Amino acid sequence: MTLVIAMDGPSGSGKSSASKGVARALGLRYLDTGAMYRAMTWWMLREGVPVGDAEAVAARAGDPVIVSGTDPDAPTISVDGADVSEPIRTREVTNAVSAVSSVPAVRARLVALQREIMAAGDIVVEGRDIGTVVAPEAPVKVYLTASEEIRAARRARDLAADPAASVAVTQAEQARRDRLDSTRKASPLVKAADAHEIDSTELSLGEVIEAVVRLAKETD
Ligand code: DC
Repeated sequence: MTLVIAMDGPSGSGKSSASKGVARALGLRYLDTGAMYRAMTWWMLREGVPVGDAEAVAARAGDPVIVSGTDPDAPTISVDGADVSEPIRTREVTNAVSAVSSVPAVRARLVALQREIMAAGDIVVEGRDIGTVVAPEAPVKVYLTASEEIRAARRARDLAADPAASVAVTQAEQARRDRLDSTRKASPLVKAADAHEIDSTELSLGEVIEAVVRLAKETD
């Protein structure tokens, strides 16, 4: 059995930094499943697929070849051989990703890919449904939260190059995305019953990493 550390939670809760830090600290691989949904969304937009039309999205869900690198020091994501690490972070993709990721055919395709990657060895996996759907048997499950204000401030900092991304706009867009991600029918964002909740509002990144590493060592 491979070791899986499942890291779920809403956007801006600090999952990516914490997950990479935990993977480095424990010498594990790292998978950003949000990047896979973003890559699928980027490709749909580029192909001109109307992302609000679930049937149109489902019909194309099997087409793009999405490849994720799992080195926590240099995570990569490509679509049809092209590196898309940067374009998948634009606001256009961010605001369309909830619609695309609510389509069951998209989830079935990406969950199968995620399980293939997980089967290759010990790994920290971050997302929304890792502890509930993708890896319900994961021995370590974390549900990372933070106040809405802190999460929006972190996101706005990530988007600093985009002049339209003020904290207020980012907070509104984030609240909308969290609502869509939490209320969709297919694998909504929910805390797994056996997940450890960590509220990072008042914690430093180092403290969050330490807390998860401690949990992983306790379950050894
Ligand atoms: O973590 P992120 O913000 O990069 O994720 C982008 C979107 O992908 C998020 O709004 C919801 C979706 N997602 C998902 O539905 N399931 C996952 N396991 C990961 C992300």
